[in-house]
Amino acid sequence: MYKILNAEKLASNIISMDIEAPRIAKHCLPGQFLIVKVDEVGERIPLTICDYDSDKGIVTIVFQPIGASTRRMADFHAGDFFEDVVGPLGQPSEFTKMDIDELKKKKIVYVAGGVGTAPVYPQLKWLYEHGITADAIVGAKTKDLIILEDKLKEVSNLYLTTDDGSYVRKGMGTDVLRDLVENQGKHYDVCVAIGPMIMMKFVCVLTKELEIPTIVSMNPIMVDGTGMCGACRLLIDGEVKFACVDGPEFDGHKVDFDLAMKRQQMYKTDEGRALLEEEE
Ligand code: FES
Repeated sequence: MYKILNAEKLASNIISMDIEAPRIAKHCLPGQFLIVKVDEVGERIPLTICDYDSDKGIVTIVFQPIGASTRRMADFHAGDFFEDVVGPLGQPSEFTKMDIDELKKKKIVYVAGGVGTAPVYPQLKWLYEHGITADAIVGAKTKDLIILEDKLKEVSNLYLTTDDGSYVRKGMGTDVLRDLVENQGKHYDVCVAIGPMIMMKFVCVLTKELEIPTIVSMNPIMVDGTGMCGACRLLIDGEVKFACVDGPEFDGHKVDFDLAMKRQQMYKTDEGRALLEEEE
């Protein structure tokens, strides 16, 4: 059993939870995820690790209660227990595997959207702790949905934008990136995009045009998280990959986003799920 130490709302529909999970906290790195099971019969819910404290044995998850399982999770409070928390799963961020001196020579920009802002934080924090301050463009629909602003400011050069212009500036993350490169003389060696698939797709369209290599963190439907069920299957440069074991990070310019989004839509209906299961 895994104890919830803290549960709080970051925005009207975004919840953060600190969970006591010393083994995961000790071994995890930015970019990895875990799977939560609320009770014995509950679904397995994959969630990116949004912060961790190896000394205190705590991992932090951030989620939006949008499906039946995450809505159940949202009913849990500090002092309650999850039946199981499995992790860390997936590959850590590419940056954690690189030579630090080489990495320090790179100009890095992150583009995050919505709840995708949460998994960006541990990556920026890790880079900052290794002497690298990256630029971070964070977009949300409205001011109320901007999360982690103060924490992000501590570890990055933060550029905020809102779709409706209710905070800082109006526009998408891609508008800010284009502005920085084309009007403010910024040069980037690598871009990391994390957020809804449609957002990552359009970041990749832009970075292809601007010739900036781009890493995306894919978040397809996951079931077992171990490469066995096939639910998280993606097409990367024409090759089948599984986000849970081969990812979640991939070369954004090689991802077939249209197929990934189609699969995500199909999972929303019983009929679509049955068809995908037949394929797998
Ligand atoms: Fe089952 Fe990835 S979640 S193969």
